[in-house]
Amino acid sequence: LPADIFPGRRNSAGIDLADPLVVEPLLERLHVLDARRWHAEPTLRSPEQGEVAPITQPQDLTHEVGTRRDALPEEIDVAVTRAIAIQPGWDALGGENRALLLEAAADMFEAHTDEILSLCQREAGKSLMDAVLELREAVDFLRYYANEARRLFAGPLPLPGPTGEENRLSLHGRGVFATISPWNFPLAIFIGPAAAALAAGNAVIAKPAEQTPLIAALAVKLCHEAGIPQDVFQLLPGAGEVGQLITSDPRIAGVAFTGSTQTAQAINRSLAAREGPIATLIAETGGQNAMIVDSSALPEQVTRDVVNSAFQSAGQRCSALRVLYLQEDVADEMLEMIKGAFEALVIGDPEDLATDVGPVIDPDAKAALERHVARRKKHGRKVWRRKLPRGAAQGCFVAPTIIEMDSILDLRRENFGPILHVVRYKASELERVIEDINATGYGLTLGLHSRIEATRRFVEARARVGNFYVNRNQIGAVVESQPFGGEGLSGTGPKAGGPHYVARFATERVVCIDT
Ligand code: NAD
Ligand code: ALA
Repeated sequence: LPADIFPGRRNSAGIDLADPLVVEPLLERLHVLDARRWHAEPTLRSPEQGEVAPITQPQDLTHEVGTRRDALPEEIDVAVTRAIAIQPGWDALGGENRALLLEAAADMFEAHTDEILSLCQREAGKSLMDAVLELREAVDFLRYYANEARRLFAGPLPLPGPTGEENRLSLHGRGVFATISPWNFPLAIFIGPAAAALAAGNAVIAKPAEQTPLIAALAVKLCHEAGIPQDVFQLLPGAGEVGQLITSDPRIAGVAFTGSTQTAQAINRSLAAREGPIATLIAETGGQNAMIVDSSALPEQVTRDVVNSAFQSAGQRCSALRVLYLQEDVADEMLEMIKGAFEALVIGDPEDLATDVGPVIDPDAKAALERHVARRKKHGRKVWRRKLPRGAAQGCFVAPTIIEMDSILDLRRENFGPILHVVRYKASELERVIEDINATGYGLTLGLHSRIEATRRFVEARARVGNFYVNRNQIGAVVESQPFGGEGLSGTGPKAGGPHYVARFATERVVCIDT
């Protein structure tokens, strides 16, 4: 794009993994980091020491990456007290100063690329490509929300009024925000909501997913080294119980949650039941994402986009394609091509550059996905599965799977892994297909492959989804260009990486002076 369209900020350039002069030295450096052990613990530690739990690699459960020490109840109490004390000063610092600190944090992330990539691979089982994308998105969130701090907090907005009266509106931090994040974007979605809350003048207590606290601990440390005070941005590692204790503290002004729909509903109930001010809840949750392919679609493009949307990141993206609707007239031909590409996927160790599909996050995730496939087989569904490579038993690998079904409504819950369901439909049934997709109650991503403009308009007008992708894949939303988030069971909005996000973390005040 010409430089003057979006002045002042560029999304991170990332790393060119096609260039051997870049990749070979990078792989050597990452290999050296394999021996490093990491540790996560609360930012403000009490003298009392809790139990330490090991963190193992999803691709090889016999390999430890480091250890996690969960926050104790008294540490949660101290964390909130200290955050409350410092928050007014952070708010008073102003948008420009907070922006400079968030940009300094983005620079620190880029300066520690190797450690971040290594942890994304070893703690979260990400391929090198996914790890690079993760770092890019995290850096983009930091810089984008920094700019939003400048834009929204530049000073009071003068408003019209009768002669002699001065009216102005200003934004302020709400207080202390809790951010609760998932393991599947252990850096980007850990730092994104926290950066937005900080940009808006809040102190932040961040609880990462129990599976990936080490990346979060590194991110918080880098933010502190960039100049963000410790009391302003604190880490509290732990499982759901720690999240539950934080969100039920009546002093917490808001919660920014990303994770499953069920957990968002539990947090919503807990916020409603507690004493104190009415808390803000921003929840970004799961999906039951479909793609519709009609007979005008280009088969090669469909094949590429289906395989990428369903199997990249081992299907562990909230945006990932779960149910592919193929128009009956072309379904056999399309399915043959998709199966061809599916058979070519390389399954294996994410640290191997050739790998397309790595492990799922942990044994529980693997067991849930296996149960789903077994149930479908029991119900007589046609199922295609890849064979797992030798050595896969040491890790949490799930064979990429394609299952034929009758309707998206046969699925009760999100299957968060490398499983693609395929449904055939007749051209005359398009409206019912969209009704069924809407009837799931989820509304995150939807894909359409069609060369017919009227079909695009028809689907766009009816689909209740947050992100609608036409003639492309349906994952990998780009900060600022494709603000991301769903509706219904998929979340509350506003969209991450979009122009309304940061304002939701702030409270508005109006001053009216009669002169
Ligand atoms: P999860 O709901 O199991 O856990 C998410 C976080 O909530 C973790 O930190 C967990 O410890 C915490 N938690 C659990 N119970 C809690 C409670 N009662 N109170 C407070 N915190 C609690 O989700 P997950 O398995 O970590 O992540 C995968 C899910 O996240 C999928 O459903 C995926 O679709 C969703 N997701 C959504 C988006 C989005 O932008 N919409 C992005 C990424 C992931
Ligand atoms: N923002 C992530 C994607 O679009 C979830 O895949």
